[in-house]
Amino acid sequence: MRIGVDYYPEHWDKSLWRADADLMKETGVKVVRMSEFAWCRLEPQEGVFDFTWLDEIIEIFEERGIDIVLCTPTNCPPLWFYEKYPDAVQTERDGRKTATGIRGHRCLNSPEFLNYSDRIVDKMTKRYAAHKSVIAWQIDNELEANFCFCETCVGKYRSWLKDKYGTLERLNKAYGNDVWSGEYSSWEQIKPPYGHYPQAWLNPSFMLDFNRYASDGMIAYVDRQAEIIRKNCPGVEITTNVWFCENMPNFYKSFSNLDFVSYDNYPTTRIPDNAEECYSHAFHLDLMRGVKRQSFWIMEQLSGGLGCWAPMARTTTPGMIQGYSLQAFAHGADTVVHFRWRTAVSGAEMHWHGLIDHSNVPGRRFAEFAKLCKTAETLQAVQNTELKSDIAILYSPENEYAFKIQPQTNGMYYLEQIMLLHSAFTKYGLNVDIIGQHEDISDYKIVVAPEMYVTESGVAERLYSFTEQGGTVVLTNRSGVKNEYNTCIMEQLPTVYRKLIGAYVEEYNPIGYDSGMLRFADGSTFRCRQWCDVMAVETAEPVACYDSDFYKGKAAITKNRYGAGTAYYIGTVGEKSLYYKLIKEILLEKEIPFVDGLPDNVEITTRTGEDMTVRFIFNNTDKEQSIQLEGKAISLLPFEMKIER
Ligand code: GAL
Repeated sequence: MRIGVDYYPEHWDKSLWRADADLMKETGVKVVRMSEFAWCRLEPQEGVFDFTWLDEIIEIFEERGIDIVLCTPTNCPPLWFYEKYPDAVQTERDGRKTATGIRGHRCLNSPEFLNYSDRIVDKMTKRYAAHKSVIAWQIDNELEANFCFCETCVGKYRSWLKDKYGTLERLNKAYGNDVWSGEYSSWEQIKPPYGHYPQAWLNPSFMLDFNRYASDGMIAYVDRQAEIIRKNCPGVEITTNVWFCENMPNFYKSFSNLDFVSYDNYPTTRIPDNAEECYSHAFHLDLMRGVKRQSFWIMEQLSGGLGCWAPMARTTTPGMIQGYSLQAFAHGADTVVHFRWRTAVSGAEMHWHGLIDHSNVPGRRFAEFAKLCKTAETLQAVQNTELKSDIAILYSPENEYAFKIQPQTNGMYYLEQIMLLHSAFTKYGLNVDIIGQHEDISDYKIVVAPEMYVTESGVAERLYSFTEQGGTVVLTNRSGVKNEYNTCIMEQLPTVYRKLIGAYVEEYNPIGYDSGMLRFADGSTFRCRQWCDVMAVETAEPVACYDSDFYKGKAAITKNRYGAGTAYYIGTVGEKSLYYKLIKEILLEKEIPFVDGLPDNVEITTRTGEDMTVRFIFNNTDKEQSIQLEGKAISLLPFEMKIER
């Protein structure tokens, strides 16, 4: 297990470089990541390249045996480039150009940008191809599926639609453009969603395609860089770093031509009061592991208090630097790179704190980081272990887009119910895989398929055959609502899943911020909220019925035998204890061993190898908690790890 740091040699006087590298070496840093924003230092004038400084710092790290991840610097083209090609800056919704002097503001379709980007990537990768210490390349930095509204992008969008639909007739039909006189009679009439009117006024089919197109465009850029890197540096691994941003790309497609996933992990520095929020860190890590279903890297990891985009937040409490990094290992990361070695003294991010403060005097946080580096060394045995799980939760970027485009009711968002279900399994100390909807699910025992809103081809079929062969599926409300074009399917909900769940939705009540009650057969009652599917059972049996409103007594949660398996349907969104109850029943039924009575906010994950099983027990609170585990174990951690206040 490796700990690294993000380092910005271009921000520091050269006189600091050797001392920094010495301290890294002494501390146990194994890898540094550099250069994602350094284009103007590498090409200070058009066609004039200067790699000497990068050569020098690479050599410094090589001498000390520290590995390097180099980044292509394409996130920030130099200002001379924009001066020459002002059109290469992204165009915003209102037609204005994005400001220069910031970052991530280049239009990924601009032919000039692509030429210059190809050239710097080519030069750089050729120059460092022979360096064994360069163990990986990171493409750009936190690429987003940004919307650019320039003429080139409008043209790209139209060709994307032409490729997809071929004719306007097919496109008009797919979108249902007969509403509001929306039928296109020429391709030129198709325009991206300009202007600042509410998005909800636009056709959701058009908007879903626009999101897909933006994601595909970003991915095409990733693949374009990957091709150059692979040609020049065969055998060297390639990644790009992602996070949960506003315009998320489709992660599954983003990484399909890359070697490993890397994620920028900034969990909150305020210990959350409730379990859902706490377990959300685990959720994001599990989701990242599931993107390629293999171990991943944290390319930027929380080190100090955050600031700059928002007012400064609490600093990392003692124990957090180690705790959150080990949590990442626990969920499948094998390298954690801390952002950043030293806090910047200039620029927009000068209050986003790194491991060492502006003073350059290593303090409490650094001391904890140094301990973490030593701990990671003692965990080498964990390197060859993996997380195996009987449980998969399906995630779909398409659904995430579609829910954002059309929020279903007050307070409801796509990830919430998924996270509640994930928390329930986490609460029982189980590994959970979060995987894409198109993955093979045949090896799991339980597949949770929440809010299968946009029906993607092949997914329902896979769930039917999985259940038929003995698996347990858990479906929820808002499933089978839309076809792949994001128009409503004209059948009783949950349409394509009706036979599987043996029930249908008689009617629904989007109760938003209001709440209702439901009651299980054993008399226990739970609060439900946001949404109530009033179920009519066919072959299914009710598991819980509503205990409030005009549909009191009607089924809210159902269970159906299908083939050799079982399909549950949760027609509402419940409080967290409802999920704990239901999931426990399902685990017992499936005879999956679990830890009962784990305190809130404590997670257990298990990594297994050929000859060892490693359990990570993570207490995400500032209180001491004790748990009783069966069997004998030895502690791999050399010291007691606590969060102290
Ligand atoms: C990340 C980004 C870094 C830095 C960090 C802190 O999103 O990749 O470059 O900006 O946030 O703000």
